[in-house]
Amino acid sequence: MPATLRNREAILAVLQDVVPRQGMLLEIASGSGEHAAFMAPQLAPLVWQPSDYEAENLPSIDAYAADSAAANIRPAVRLDVTQQPWPVSACDALLCCNMIHIAPWAAAEGLFAGAAAIMAAKDAPLILYGPFRRHGAHTAPSNAAFDDSLKSRNAEWGVRCLDTEVVPLAQRAGFALDRVIEMPANNLTVIFRKA
Ligand SMILES: C[S@@+](CC[C@H](N)C(=O)[O-])C[C@H]1O[C@@H](n2cnc3c(N)ncnc32)[C@H](O)[C@@H]1O
Repeated sequence: MPATLRNREAILAVLQDVVPRQGMLLEIASGSGEHAAFMAPQLAPLVWQPSDYEAENLPSIDAYAADSAAANIRPAVRLDVTQQPWPVSACDALLCCNMIHIAPWAAAEGLFAGAAAIMAAKDAPLILYGPFRRHGAHTAPSNAAFDDSLKSRNAEWGVRCLDTEVVPLAQRAGFALDRVIEMPANNLTVIFRKA
């Protein structure tokens, strides 16, 4: 996917600063698996566990991992964030790129509920990447147009508001907002920490 290729260097730079050197990172909504294949080798010995809701994405994730020859990518698992408990029982960091706006709000709720259940360590990072509204407003005309197109595809989808929707949800689940990092193309990386 072109967007996945464009943003991967910028996301990796954030991860290199934020994730632990060892342990396991769970990637939610890995999609094609291109992020895992590019980023995981550069974060070793941290182990990368890819996952996705769509069973048909799992072979693609595993194929990208095999092509990368990375030794630290586990076989992809099917994980629907709305179905508790998750099939992964623990992780030291969690990454979720471009999911909560392309899914019903129940996916954001499931994401934080599931993460709270499997992330034990205080300050463990939960990292979201994607477009967000700020204080109820879009940050760019292109994001407003994207929001309209999402809603025309599915009325339950849409660009979420970081301040009035996502942060309160995270706090209710036991995650504190750590940092908001502006990314290319009007996206944000948002770092939450287990409280
Ligand atoms: C736009 S793609 C993002 C893929 C990749 N993370 C990226 O940034 O290129 C959205 C992904 O969210 C996944 N997804 C949607 N609903 C989900 C759910 N309930 N649980 C887990 N993943 C879900 C889809 O299967 C799809 O792979």
